[in-house]
Amino acid sequence: MGIKFYENSRIFKLDTPKSTYMIGIVDEENFIGHIYYGRKVIDADLSYMMRLHGSSDVPTKNSRDRVTFMDSMPMEYPTHGVGDFRESCLSVKDHAGHSACSLSYISHRIYHGKQKLPGLPATFAREDECTTLELICEDKALQLQVTLVYNVFEKLDAITRSVKIYNSSKNPIYLTKVLSACLDMDNRDYDMITLYGLWSRERMINRRRITDGKQLISSLRGVSSHQEQPFMAILDKNADEDHGEVFALNLVYSGNFMAQAEITQFTMLRAVIGINPVDFCWKLDSEESFTSPEAVMVYSNEGIGGMTRTFHDLYRNHLIRGQYKDKKRPILINNWEATYFDFDTDKLLSIAREASKLGIEMLVMDDGWFGYRNDDNTSLGDWVVNESKIKGGLKHLVDEVNKLGMKFGIWFEPEMISPDSDLYRTHPDWAIQIPGRNPALARNQLVLDISRKEVRDAVYDSMYKILSEANIEYVKWDMNRPLTDIAGASLDSDTQGEFYHRYVLGLYEMQERLVSDFPHILLENCSSGGGRFDPGMLYYSPQIWSSDNTDAIDRLRIQEGTAMIYPLSAMGAHVADCPSHSNGRVTPFETRGYVSLAGTFGYELDITKIPEEDRNMIPKQVAMYHKYNDLVRTGDYYRIASYQMNHEYDCYEVVSKDKKEALVTYIQVSGRPNYRTRRIRLKGLKEDAIYRIEETGEELSGGALMYAGINIENMWGDYLGKLIHIVEI
Ligand code: GLA
Repeated sequence: MGIKFYENSRIFKLDTPKSTYMIGIVDEENFIGHIYYGRKVIDADLSYMMRLHGSSDVPTKNSRDRVTFMDSMPMEYPTHGVGDFRESCLSVKDHAGHSACSLSYISHRIYHGKQKLPGLPATFAREDECTTLELICEDKALQLQVTLVYNVFEKLDAITRSVKIYNSSKNPIYLTKVLSACLDMDNRDYDMITLYGLWSRERMINRRRITDGKQLISSLRGVSSHQEQPFMAILDKNADEDHGEVFALNLVYSGNFMAQAEITQFTMLRAVIGINPVDFCWKLDSEESFTSPEAVMVYSNEGIGGMTRTFHDLYRNHLIRGQYKDKKRPILINNWEATYFDFDTDKLLSIAREASKLGIEMLVMDDGWFGYRNDDNTSLGDWVVNESKIKGGLKHLVDEVNKLGMKFGIWFEPEMISPDSDLYRTHPDWAIQIPGRNPALARNQLVLDISRKEVRDAVYDSMYKILSEANIEYVKWDMNRPLTDIAGASLDSDTQGEFYHRYVLGLYEMQERLVSDFPHILLENCSSGGGRFDPGMLYYSPQIWSSDNTDAIDRLRIQEGTAMIYPLSAMGAHVADCPSHSNGRVTPFETRGYVSLAGTFGYELDITKIPEEDRNMIPKQVAMYHKYNDLVRTGDYYRIASYQMNHEYDCYEVVSKDKKEALVTYIQVSGRPNYRTRRIRLKGLKEDAIYRIEETGEELSGGALMYAGINIENMWGDYLGKLIHIVEI
């Protein structure tokens, strides 16, 4: 059991294999204090960490300095307006217009397993994998019950948290801020890592010192965004890939979020994460409940790499669902960069015919098959097959593709509406827009108000029809613009602040319907590339398109940042055309294959037009994928070198769980004259086992491979790569 309650000291101790998290109930007022989070300790009582210097410091004994107490006490779930001037997690507006709230512990429950969060994605676990603590708290004046939920994973250094709020008063209470987690810790001159970016350059790694004041990352785009990830790692300033303490927070949510690290006046650090409170206001009527998204906390004392491996295991085993959870994905070929909007049945079949001969397993028809969509100006919302392009209809096309021995997949952008569409002409009010204001277009499209059930139902029904019409085995669910001009036509003036969250709940409901109605379909989420690559979406789709940037070298950085949190099995990655449509760079076909092997692996080019010698390489790449994908998908990921940092080469390794096999991918970004060999030191192997390097036949101990390293000969030219496969003998 990972959770213990010590009745006399009123302390809760949460233990994972290598970490301890401690909570204390303080004073007669029953404050919920945060005592400790860090490396595992055997002690049951570290309450001195709260610096209360004996009971005289608590408000019931010394009310004269209550504000000092409130503003310095490490809190589990700080509230607004009663003396804690650091960032709060909860604030309200009550019927009198007041914003303060204050929580006291009432009771608790400890049980095996983990409950679902209503309408929200969340990690899941069996009863023997996880223990849950529910701290039931109350604001007596407001008659508001707040339950702090902690799920402790038995075999992973992960604790997940969420918050349930229940209004037991007679009046509505407006929740103006409900964050999911707070971490009050000593400030030890930490660094922080966040992942920032923009379209085509997602999840760049940003490491910086945490300094005085507040360091905020957030999204107000209605999606988690290209620009910031709902993720923050706080780490020792000397921590590296393999050493040092790391405390990470990741929010299982796909909409507006905030994550912030703040150094407070008494050299404490407060980190928080949750739904962005800007434009958020949730009306909680009498006897109604609200549940926050789940926050994941990961602790590592083995540096950033240790954090990464815990996230990968947690998400692979306890977040990703469906029949493809533990399965190799079909190698797909997507026609987007091959044809853009200019395709028809014949063109698609010519690609499929060639692809099937070379071992590719699925054809994905991207944007442009519906309505009158020959460019990106029209038809979103009209999910009706354009039979002047898809001659003979969808079923005919899919049947022909199936006859070639291939599966068939299709693209949708369900949340969108083009002003030039039959849907808009019939239901202009379904687009999100403020009456009397000209709504901002992006890619010439508007967003559908999927917070409304009738809108969701209509869109879903039209998708359902298409998906039932033919043997479709894959869906790419795209989302290509941020939300603006927010107005919910079904919401009153006092509930407009619910819009963004209701939109996300609507999205989750639609995707849940899709995966339960069509469990055989492989769903891949996408948002102008990787604009909604977050744990929330991973709950519905086991893979997400990482970026519209398909240049192999740019992809090294994007995939490195993505893999810092998300498993390789989740990263959509394709061998694309050259010169790259993203930046004009020319890279060898072979290298493009190695880079895509780090993700789901597929193709995105006109296979009928590429050079013969590239085409001839495809069967070899297909075989490479089949040989290594089980290892890549399920193994432990170790970063060996970062091209973001060294500007010369990229190198990572995947080691099988039993440590009997490893695959190293090495990409030489820039060839260096006068430099014959580079030494790579492997990681994660068994010191005393003997391994054979498949390519050279050399036999070396795990110790030699890890501590002495292996030589990589300099290759003649830029953008060259190689795989090094080692197997225990
Ligand atoms: C987005 C996606 C692309 C492609 C286009 C189609 O940009 O990220 O992969 O599907 O839309 O319009």
